[in-house]
Amino acid sequence: MPDPLVIRPARAEDDEAIDSLIRAAFGGTEYGHQGEAELVRMLGADGDVMVSLVAEQGGDVVGHVLFSRMDVEADGAPLSAAGLAPVSVAPGLQGRGIGDALIRAGLVSLRGQGVAIGFVLGHESYYPRFGYAPELAARFVSPFAGPHLMAMMLDSGAIWPQGGRADYAPAFGRLG
Ligand SMILES: CC(C)(COP(=O)(O)OP(=O)(O)OC[C@H]1O[C@@H](n2cnc3c(N)ncnc32)[C@H](O)[C@@H]1OP(=O)(O)O)[C@@H](O)C(=O)NCCC(=O)NCCS
Repeated sequence: MPDPLVIRPARAEDDEAIDSLIRAAFGGTEYGHQGEAELVRMLGADGDVMVSLVAEQGGDVVGHVLFSRMDVEADGAPLSAAGLAPVSVAPGLQGRGIGDALIRAGLVSLRGQGVAIGFVLGHESYYPRFGYAPELAARFVSPFAGPHLMAMMLDSGAIWPQGGRADYAPAFGRLG
């Protein structure tokens, strides 16, 4: 029987394992420029991390997800917002629900912090299952606007804002 999967907040001593995991997960993808590991370091240094969770199995870090503070204005007022990026699962363990479990746990934590809206830039085939919608993101002016930018109200009963502006944390603008 495989060891159970545990989702828990990342700790300082996980930094190296998270760094290696991200490099392994993104190494063979279209995003394979390794910028994600640097992004995680910069977001931490800037104090912009809202949620950072690891998936641990048998003492190994096999998955990680990070949500960072965004600067969002909706219908003329600031709205508490979090951007999902990056999410990584160890290459040999992808497709088994680990990413799903990490993202769902992260969204629960954001709701607990009273965050109103979440954004993600990624595959339209993956993120809508969590509630992210390109139609909501399209109401916001953003440097990342386009079909890959999706958003969700974290209170699913909340009325969608008519429009606004969405900016990721400054570290995203410093990515090479
Ligand atoms: C994307 C990623 C985090 C998903 O985590 P996961 O644990 O593999 O995914 P889950 O098991 O929760 O969900 C599987 C779904 O993810 C999708 N998926 C996306 N990339 C995948 C990959 N490389 N391998 C397997 N599934 C992948 C599949 O379409 C699958 O969809 P289905 O349920 O309709 O079959 C993970 O595959 C990964 O680390 N990929 C490399 C890094 C990356 O691309 N990160 C996201 C950038 S937007």
